[in-house]
Amino acid sequence: MKNKYLYIETFGCQMNVHDSGQMAVLLRDLGYEPTEDSAKADCILINTCSIREKAEQKAMSELGRLMKLKEKNPNLIVGFAGCLAQHLGARVHGRVKNVDLVFGTHNIHRLPEMMARVQKERKPVTEVGFSSSLHSLGIFAPPPKGAVGAFVSIMQGCDNYCAYCVVPFLRGPEMSREPKDIVGEIEKLAGRGIREVTLLGQNVNSYGKKTGGRGDFVFLLKKINDIEGIERIRFTTSHPRDLSEELISCFGSLRKLCRHIHLPVQSGSSRILKRMNRGYTAEEYLEKVARLRRVCPEISITSDIIVGFPGETQKDYQETIDMMEKIRFDSVFSFKYSERKGTAAQAIEGKVPETEKKLRLREVQALQDRHTQEKNTSLEGSVQEVLVEGQSRNSRQDMTGRTSSWKIVNFEGRSELIGRTVPVRISRGYLHSLRGKQITP
Ligand code: 5AD
Ligand code: SF4
Repeated sequence: MKNKYLYIETFGCQMNVHDSGQMAVLLRDLGYEPTEDSAKADCILINTCSIREKAEQKAMSELGRLMKLKEKNPNLIVGFAGCLAQHLGARVHGRVKNVDLVFGTHNIHRLPEMMARVQKERKPVTEVGFSSSLHSLGIFAPPPKGAVGAFVSIMQGCDNYCAYCVVPFLRGPEMSREPKDIVGEIEKLAGRGIREVTLLGQNVNSYGKKTGGRGDFVFLLKKINDIEGIERIRFTTSHPRDLSEELISCFGSLRKLCRHIHLPVQSGSSRILKRMNRGYTAEEYLEKVARLRRVCPEISITSDIIVGFPGETQKDYQETIDMMEKIRFDSVFSFKYSERKGTAAQAIEGKVPETEKKLRLREVQALQDRHTQEKNTSLEGSVQEVLVEGQSRNSRQDMTGRTSSWKIVNFEGRSELIGRTVPVRISRGYLHSLRGKQITP
């Protein structure tokens, strides 16, 4: 039988990357092997993101481009998945002709059945209904050979309704997986050589509080901390409002918990935070950061910032800059506010002109680059424990890995080190990585 090939293109967040991995597993069971060459594919899936307008535009233009391959190969199956597919539903077929499959974030587990329908009926299939089960999260994706880290979804959806965000509409209400299912999955991963797990959810701090999940997030972390073979635990993403005292203290007490937290602040102005419906003030955020640093002085703190939210004055924006100066984040993902249909922010007055948003974004990025560089330079001479992930892309003599604080370190070493944690003395701090030398005992 002829080999069948699958080409997946993924846009957006880590959650989408994880979902794409699960789609690949389901299609592998139907005989599809992954390929990086779209021209060779028998099935193409585009896993889309809808969080900002730019991501939507990119996904639509990619769909248009890949659909041309159908002219040469009429049997090619093209599927459109993820948040934008969820949002548009059957309207995708109105925008682009001959798309075979449109499916949403709650329908991944039904991919085999949908593929069978496409092949049998030869007409477009659309499945974007929400499900009250967590079937799509429970698909086990075996890690690729030699992988050191893996992502594990612990919950789906979000109930926060931040005023700018479409996620609650596209990924549905918050639901947590049972601790025993999560622990079982991580034990399986550990058995296959995985040393580091990153727990995924839109707001992991509220794990177990709403539907499902017995025990809260701290309970779950402690359980995972006991799993043999797992050396490092990370999680993303956290909501400052739900960051509890107990969770903060884990950074001092749980040995395997990495010394890094991604804690999106979004704005340094309490007035804007209120409009964003974030549920904390700038002062409360600063206080939580101070407590994190008290418990774990070396913790690295990264964040997300939106500039140009409706009504953001020069003074509000300056408060974001002041917040950055006070905290000195290790790194920041910064975005221009992008209006999303159906969100509360659409109705908020005081839209900031595009040119002003661009200016503010550029300044935030320049300031953050300065802080990141300063932080990385300050690590020169220190010894960092590096979990080696693989060979560096830039040099065959170099290995690459990360510190507990999530910084990339490159150093000369051999491939036997992959999967091991080794001490490395940092010789140079760059903007995006560190360079060092392994210390041999
Ligand atoms: N415009 C700009 N940035 C957004 N984000 C979410 N929605 C929007 C939007 N409408 C950003 C937030 C969030 C990150 C994942 O994306 O900073 O934390
Ligand atoms: Fe969006 Fe807010 Fe939920 Fe994050 S917490 S996914 S920003 S609504």
